[in-house]
Amino acid sequence: MTARSLPPSVIATLPGSYYTDENIFALEQARVFETMWFCVARASDLGRPGAFRTVQVGRESVLVTRARDGSIRAFLNVCRHRGARIRTEESGEVKRSFQCPYHAWTYDLEGKLIAAPNLTRMPDIDRVEYGLINVHVREWIGYVWVCLADEPPSFEADVIAEATHRLGDERSIENYDIANLRVGRRIVYDVKANWKLIVENFMECYHCATIHPELTEVLPEFADGYAAQSFVGHGAEFGEEIRGFTVDGSEGVDRIPGVGEDQDRRYYAITIKPQVFVNLVPDHVILHRMFPLAADRTIVECDWLFLGDVVDSGRDLGPSVELFHRVNVQDFEACERCQPAMNSRAYAEGGVLVPSEHHIGAFHEWVLDRLGTGPG
Ligand code: FES
Ligand code: FE
Repeated sequence: MTARSLPPSVIATLPGSYYTDENIFALEQARVFETMWFCVARASDLGRPGAFRTVQVGRESVLVTRARDGSIRAFLNVCRHRGARIRTEESGEVKRSFQCPYHAWTYDLEGKLIAAPNLTRMPDIDRVEYGLINVHVREWIGYVWVCLADEPPSFEADVIAEATHRLGDERSIENYDIANLRVGRRIVYDVKANWKLIVENFMECYHCATIHPELTEVLPEFADGYAAQSFVGHGAEFGEEIRGFTVDGSEGVDRIPGVGEDQDRRYYAITIKPQVFVNLVPDHVILHRMFPLAADRTIVECDWLFLGDVVDSGRDLGPSVELFHRVNVQDFEACERCQPAMNSRAYAEGGVLVPSEHHIGAFHEWVLDRLGTGPG
């Protein structure tokens, strides 16, 4: 992949500049995040008409809301008059419209321009034409996905098939009924690292033995360093003494009813490119969404989803949440440790992948293919 001459069995990583160069990041914004389906919010974050969230998708701020008919809508967060941001908060709720704070142009929850001071004296302003710019929206497994492309790629092929093909039929992701689970806990991490370092880290478990003592206690096969998280289609089995996917191996909470016998006592991990990770265990689901903000900064929003009854019961979710929270902190520290070194001349041509990390090479090929560049 690089100009280095390496033995055929050794795969090079991307050069360090791919993790630091603002031009490459801009290309990724345009050709990855603004072109593919991008997961922005839990549908329950938009509980009622008028509830909204603002999220960064590539170079754009996107305003996501629930319209009066209950459907979810998404718009570019830009007033059509003189370009003010409609909303700057991360989340909130309006009654029935969005009013731009600059000159008070007002848009309904479907994005149509419904009022503007003196609009009657400006008959040439078409209220539909000057509505907020819509972006494509899909809802799946209880999450809202948007696509900024004029013609979005197939959601079925790029998201659903990508998420399901790793597990066999009887081990379907559908068994977890993710759409109907409830957010028991959400933690937002501000990671000072390039988004690809976070994806690559999630794709391999070579590091598990070194940095994840609690996780390898629960999943002993991760201790040998060979398990590749994105490829654990067979599921990683809990250790014999382990009673639940918890920080101390203690009993978890109520099992999700659809989880079959062969999925019980197992952990599955799925990567949905470019920015979602799904972790499945018998009694909860952990879903990460990444929001890349700069070449060296990524916000990661992580939800722990449980049965509604479990959340309502007020049961202590702490031991369940704490396990993957520690894994997250350990992983993100590792990514932040790598990020500053990406600029070093020692990494100008990148590093190398050991055999258990070879699918990271496939991820790099995918990135280069999307960007239409070679590592130069
Ligand atoms: Fe929004 Fe003028 S910029 S009303
Ligand atoms: Fe890890």
